Amino acid sequence: MVNRDGLRSLYTQIAARYEADVIPVFAPLAADFAEWIGACSAAYLDGTLDDPFAMEETRISPTMQQRLMAMNALDIGTGTGILARTLATTFQSVVGVDLSAAMLAAAPPNPRTTLIAGDVHQLPFRANAFRLAVSSFGLNTTTPKQSLRSVTRVLRPNGGLLFLQEWGALDDLARAADDLLRERQPSDFEIPDEALRAFLSEDSPWYAQLSDADDYFDSLKRLGYQQVWAREAAFVNVEVSIETFIRYKLAWPSRRLPYLAMSADQRSAFDAKFREHVQRYSHDGQHVIWSPPLIRAFAVKG
Ligand SMILES: C[S@@+](CC[C@H](N)C(=O)[O-])C[C@H]1O[C@@H](n2cnc3c(N)ncnc32)[C@H](O)[C@@H]1O
Repeated sequence: MVNRDGLRSLYTQIAARYEADVIPVFAPLAADFAEWIGACSAAYLDGTLDDPFAMEETRISPTMQQRLMAMNALDIGTGTGILARTLATTFQSVVGVDLSAAMLAAAPPNPRTTLIAGDVHQLPFRANAFRLAVSSFGLNTTTPKQSLRSVTRVLRPNGGLLFLQEWGALDDLARAADDLLRERQPSDFEIPDEALRAFLSEDSPWYAQLSDADDYFDSLKRLGYQQVWAREAAFVNVEVSIETFIRYKLAWPSRRLPYLAMSADQRSAFDAKFREHVQRYSHDGQHVIWSPPLIRAFAVKG
């Protein structure tokens, strides 16, 4: 089991800056994921779903829109609710659940979503309550056997739909930020918060058990899902200013704390080097195009 106190501490520390520093980069990922969820759900409902990763651009008909509007959805690890509010224009009601009260408190109000505190390993909902469950980067700090079993319990049998989006192979820009920080942080630097330090030093049970798309496929099949598709790819290009991208990378306490512990000179040296690295992904010297490897999975409960 992951160190919950450490996990809570991480999200308590990032919550106040999450909407300003993280969401500008995550919103395009959530938007593309939400569009895929809508298109796959529509194709599933009208019986035309073949390969969710090879769908032509689907225009959802008004009749189908009405059918989607009759469905309720659960967003797991909703954070400040970006995916929940993006999906709320397609589905009737979206409930977001999250372990971190601080993240939920930082969510912008949205009349079409309901955000609830809870742990995905023991979801506070009755069995078969939802027609659709989704998660965007909300499961990778959980213990997959328990969390996926818990999600499966609250999904309706015969056609409950589960969509996941998680990080795939470590992308070059994350690796560069971490390497450059390690080179410049004070040699005796230690994360001051004990629980957070413990959390960050633990091996992740999620990645230990689910390292590629085949693992997602096998594990969802083992849980009894009738149809399962999983793929790793760079599904979406995020284009933001270089400053926005750097702010996003440094918002996370695992980077922000060593960054703030550096001397002013080391910090400027880091800024220059990291900026130079990010600029390699820029076509105009001002914006970066970031295409992180992601794993997406879609499963239909039998
Ligand atoms: C990287 S954030 C993603 C938030 C949001 N889905 C997004 O795309 O911006 C991960 C979220 O999952 C939540 N989380 C992690 N473990 C959880 C658990 N066991 N139960 C519920 N939420 C959890 C965290 O509190 C955090 O808000």
